[in-house]
Amino acid sequence: MIITVTLNAAIDKSLSVPNFRLGRRHRTVEQTTLPGGKGVNVARTLKTLGQPVIATGFAGGATGTRIVEALTDESILNDFVRIREESRTNTAVLDPTNSETTEINERGPAVSGRELELFRDKLLYLARGAAIVIFAGSLPRDVDADFYADLIKDLRKLGIVVVIDTDGDPLRHAVRAEPHVVSPNVLEAEELVGHEFNDDEDRIIAVREMVSLGAQEAIMTTPDGCFGSVLDDGESALYRVCIEPREAVAAVGAGDAFLAGYVAARYGGKPPAECLRYGVACGAESVHRLGAGLVDPNKVDRLLGDIEVQRLATPAEVS
Ligand SMILES: Nc1ncnc2c1ncn2[C@@H]1O[C@H](COP(=O)(O)OP(=O)(O)OP(=O)(O)O)[C@@H](O)[C@H]1O
Ligand SMILES: [Mg+2]
Repeated sequence: MIITVTLNAAIDKSLSVPNFRLGRRHRTVEQTTLPGGKGVNVARTLKTLGQPVIATGFAGGATGTRIVEALTDESILNDFVRIREESRTNTAVLDPTNSETTEINERGPAVSGRELELFRDKLLYLARGAAIVIFAGSLPRDVDADFYADLIKDLRKLGIVVVIDTDGDPLRHAVRAEPHVVSPNVLEAEELVGHEFNDDEDRIIAVREMVSLGAQEAIMTTPDGCFGSVLDDGESALYRVCIEPREAVAAVGAGDAFLAGYVAARYGGKPPAECLRYGVACGAESVHRLGAGLVDPNKVDRLLGDIEVQRLATPAEVS
C-alpha cells in the first residue's frame, strides 16, 4: 500500500477562459472541479495507474466533506482527519490562447495541536500496512516547519520508504530528516540549495547537494524531464532524463503526476532509470489534461519511447 499525505487538501477548480483579462467579465468554455492538493493529485494518478493507495490529511467543514465524498466517488480510498476550520477552494484560470495559467489559492484552514496529534496517530496507524508514504504540498498555516521532518523520522523507524515534495523551510527541515526521495522542481531546488542554476552542470551539482543535505535520492524535475541522483544497486547513480516539451493545456500538477509515476514504477520493482522515465512520461501526459493528476495510462506507455535517459558519470566514476 502507498499512503499520500495532503495537509492542505482543497477543492480545485480549473477554468478554461480564452482571452482572459484582468478586470473583465468572462465565461468558461470548459471547467473541472476535483478534490486536490498535491498529495490528492498524486493519489489520483496512482489509482489510475492501478496502484493501491490511500489518501490521508486534513479535511474541514462543508468543503472537507465534499473533498472526501468526491474522492470516494472516484474510488480513491481515503481516511482524513476532520478538522474544525473549513478546507479551501483553489481556482486556476487557464487561457488556451496563450497557455498562461493564473492561480488563486485561498488561505487554508488553521489546525489545532489536538488535530495535529490525531493526524500523527492516524498516519502511524495507516503506515503499518504501507510500504511507501508520500508527503506532498504545503503545511497548514501556523504548523511548525519541522512537522514533516518529525514524521519522516517516525516513519523511517518503522522501515517505511518516505518520499517528500514540498518547498521552503518545511523542505529544508525534511531533507535533514533523511527521507528516501525528495522531488523539488527547479525553483524549489534553487531555494533549497541557496543559489540559481545557470547550466546543466549547476543542475547536476544541485541534485548531488540535495543528497549531501540528507536525502537518499534527489530528483529535480524540469519542464523537459528531470535530473536524478538515485540508488542503483545501493550506489548513487546520476541520470538526466529528457523529453521534448509539449504544448500544455494545463501544466499545473505535472510534478504530482511525475511523482506518482516514479513511485508507481518503483513500487513495481522497476530499475531506477525506468522509474525516472515513467515519471517523466506521466508528467508529460498530464499536461494535456485540464485537472491535476489526470493521466491516460495507454498514452503514458506510448510516450516512453520518446524519452531519452542518459546515465551521467558520478565524480567517483570520473576519478
Ligand atoms: N510542457 C511539458 N511537456 C512535456 N513534459 C512536461 C511539460 N511540463 C512538465 N512536464 C513534465 O512533468 C514533470 C514535472 O514538471 P515540473 O517540474 O514543471 O513540475 P512542477 O513545477 O512540480 O509542477 P506542479 O508543482 O504544478 O505539479 C517533468 O518531469 C516534465 O518532464
Ligand atoms: Mg511540484
